[in-house]
Amino acid sequence: MSLPKQVRIVEVGPRDGLQNEKQATPTSAKIQLIENLVDAGLNYIEAGSFVNPKWVPQMADSGEVFSGVARKAGVTYAALTPNLQGYERAIAVGANEVAIFAAASEAFSQKNINCSISESIKRFEALIAAAKQQQIPVRGYISCVLGCPYSGAVDAEMVANIASELFAMGCYEISLGDTIGVGTAGKTKQLIETVARVIPISKIAAHMHDTYGQALANIYAALEMGISVIDSSVAGLGGCPYAVGATGNVATEDVVYLLNGLGIEHGIDLEKLIYAGNTISNILGKPTNSRVARAMSK
Ligand code: HMG
Ligand code: MG
Repeated sequence: MSLPKQVRIVEVGPRDGLQNEKQATPTSAKIQLIENLVDAGLNYIEAGSFVNPKWVPQMADSGEVFSGVARKAGVTYAALTPNLQGYERAIAVGANEVAIFAAASEAFSQKNINCSISESIKRFEALIAAAKQQQIPVRGYISCVLGCPYSGAVDAEMVANIASELFAMGCYEISLGDTIGVGTAGKTKQLIETVARVIPISKIAAHMHDTYGQALANIYAALEMGISVIDSSVAGLGGCPYAVGATGNVATEDVVYLLNGLGIEHGIDLEKLIYAGNTISNILGKPTNSRVARAMSK
């Protein structure tokens, strides 16, 4: 299959990145980050999550973040929501879209959201019904698609079944999350081939963490399979609570550089993106995890 002409980037740094940073990020810095990302041309930002704040204190101020950001027309400010309570909190502060998440591994589901995979999917029914009524698009994540920190290998058929179920329930897109970054290019291709048998390839997104340094290779493999939606996190923000010293999501700057080299359109200004990433890294007092940002900031 040939590479896509255009790719849509889903920026998850303010949520997936900052939820995993050890120290709390000031609310004003989160707001500034989101505005800088929009200024760089990103038009889809996962700006926060409305989960139980006892579990993820880093996201406890998501309401203030959504209320404080200067909105730009045409930009989607999305929220991660685990249940109806989270959905209602997100909608109250003007989230344009929500994302739900299920795991492809039972052990991970129990640890992450305290229930089985099928219970978690059942729990989303009320949320999806409310979203349909209010015409709020719902995105679906599946985590641990290429491996689980507790139970190891994950069956691609299992991922395809969950993808098909979430899609049938009303998720408009399914993002395949390599939560612990263990996937390799061959496994990524095999997974996408299996999932694309049950939902259209245009409805599948790739969400790669870079723990093992494989994220860009996996993304290239995904592009070759026809994937045209990529999740990434500016400055590679985030870590992984399950692996000491692990990095977060693939850096948006590095994905943009890859796409530039392939002549794939994305609508993002790399210099402004690097500015956004370096600014938040400075505030967090740590070096950026983007190799491209490091190389271009010298
Ligand atoms: P729970 O604590 O297991 O149990 O929450 P509960 O549902 O019985 O709720 C207990 C308490 O939580 C109650 O408060 C609720 O009101 C409160 P209390 O009476 O004790 O004071 N509560 C909430 N408060 C605020 N907002 C809410 C909410 N819901 C309940 N929405 C729950 C279950 C799912 C909420 C919990 O397990 C949770 O919040 N988990 C968060 C997990 C999380 O955020 N994980 C990270 C995101 S997933 C991810 O990063 C992967 C991804 O990036 C893809 C990839 O990389 O693969 C998406
Ligand atoms: Mg993630």
